[in-house]
Amino acid sequence: MAQLWGGRFTKETDELVYRFNASISFDQKFYKQDIEGSMAHVCMLAKQGILEKEEMQRIVKALTEIQQEVEAGTLEITDEYEDIHSFVEANLIERLGDIGKKLHTGRSRNDQVALDMKLYTRLEVLFTDVLVKDLLKVLLRIMEEHTETIMPGFTHLQKAQPVTLAHHMGAYFEMFKRDRLRLKDIYVRMNYCPLGAGALAGTTYPLDREYSAKLLGFYGPTLNSMDSVSDRDYLIELLSALSTIMMHLSRFCEEIILWNSNEYQFVEIDDAYSTGSSIMPQKKNPDIAELVRGKTGRVYGALMSLLTTMKGIPLAYNKDMQEDKELTFDAIDTVKGCLLLFTGMLDTMKFHKDRMEKSAGGGFTNATDAADYLVNHGVPFRDAHGIVGRLVLTCIEKNCTIDELSFAELQEISPVFEEDIYEAISLKTCVNKRLTLGGPGKEAMEQVIALEKEYLAAEWQDEEAKKWKQPSNG
Ligand code: ARG
Repeated sequence: MAQLWGGRFTKETDELVYRFNASISFDQKFYKQDIEGSMAHVCMLAKQGILEKEEMQRIVKALTEIQQEVEAGTLEITDEYEDIHSFVEANLIERLGDIGKKLHTGRSRNDQVALDMKLYTRLEVLFTDVLVKDLLKVLLRIMEEHTETIMPGFTHLQKAQPVTLAHHMGAYFEMFKRDRLRLKDIYVRMNYCPLGAGALAGTTYPLDREYSAKLLGFYGPTLNSMDSVSDRDYLIELLSALSTIMMHLSRFCEEIILWNSNEYQFVEIDDAYSTGSSIMPQKKNPDIAELVRGKTGRVYGALMSLLTTMKGIPLAYNKDMQEDKELTFDAIDTVKGCLLLFTGMLDTMKFHKDRMEKSAGGGFTNATDAADYLVNHGVPFRDAHGIVGRLVLTCIEKNCTIDELSFAELQEISPVFEEDIYEAISLKTCVNKRLTLGGPGKEAMEQVIALEKEYLAAEWQDEEAKKWKQPSNG
């Protein structure tokens, strides 16, 4: 047991207590961030004259070596240490003796862990955003290729009106675009540095919190030391944004599973993204889509867990908060994995245009347009609705579509119909006349595609990165 405390204790910690309390098995995930934070801390201490410049240089050098050795696999992070902070500090002291013991001057593990978690998740917000953006690129490619691929649009899972595949994909484009905005918002709100908050009440040393915050790429320091060590809202916001991404992916997966079924046959998932059955030789299953849909529950669970953990914690730091880590790491890794796999599956999926168009031809998806035709010829909409309703009933009796009725049959139901009705209710016309901004008509769609392209060309991460000052190597 290597602990950073023990002076006031007369007994060894019980072995089970030690293990129950330890976090090294999971907080080693941010060893890099722990070292990065320590480096910024000692640079600031030296700048303020709290450490000698030479002491700072030796500490930074030793920390660099520790990191390199961990990365090379020559220094192992073992559970003999309570947490990653103890591991780094103990290793530093082993190398530098008394100088190493100065690292923790003016710092507590409470502000340290708050910093490490923020540094780690801040980066993960950017990684997740890149993966969502990759998905948007694939969506845009499909949109560009399928502005004329007609498919049924559904409400209540009943065929409603014809749309295009580009339009359907465009709906998801908007959802994932908002997901990126949510990530950006979180990033901007979380990007303030808790280092220097100490255990809860700051320190008596003349720390320059502005300076260490800037070194670490934050907009600035946080403004209340008690809040700094006990704020986990940004993780709750992140888990909420991740849950929303999963909800979107899950809906999309549900549609792909339906579309890939024998009944629909709108798409075919690539062999590389499908799996077989151990007993039924004919099977090709959409397991990836099902797993992404299934994993959504796990991410929602993380959000609920953390909300519940946080709800009764008095200020300031309490050990309950250690529970924020495993679930957040798991949620982030799950979402990143799902995004990666989903994008690959979508990118390689085949779309059966003929099946989609044939399906759009059934279910009277052009009924609204037949009514609109009558309206354009002077019939009030409510009457037109009734006439087309009767038309549909006739079709159901004769087992045919509206455009399969003869002109005489159409006129019998309403003399307002003229020869050009067939053209007016062809699927192509139905789609392409829907030119309101955001609609499926080809021109409207092309207008939106141009906007989406412009949007994808702009990089918010670059803008944020520009605001960061490079850490000095002092
Ligand atoms: N492992 C702890 C956590 O994750 C680090 C902070 C420990 N602080 C303390 N006062 N025991 O929250």
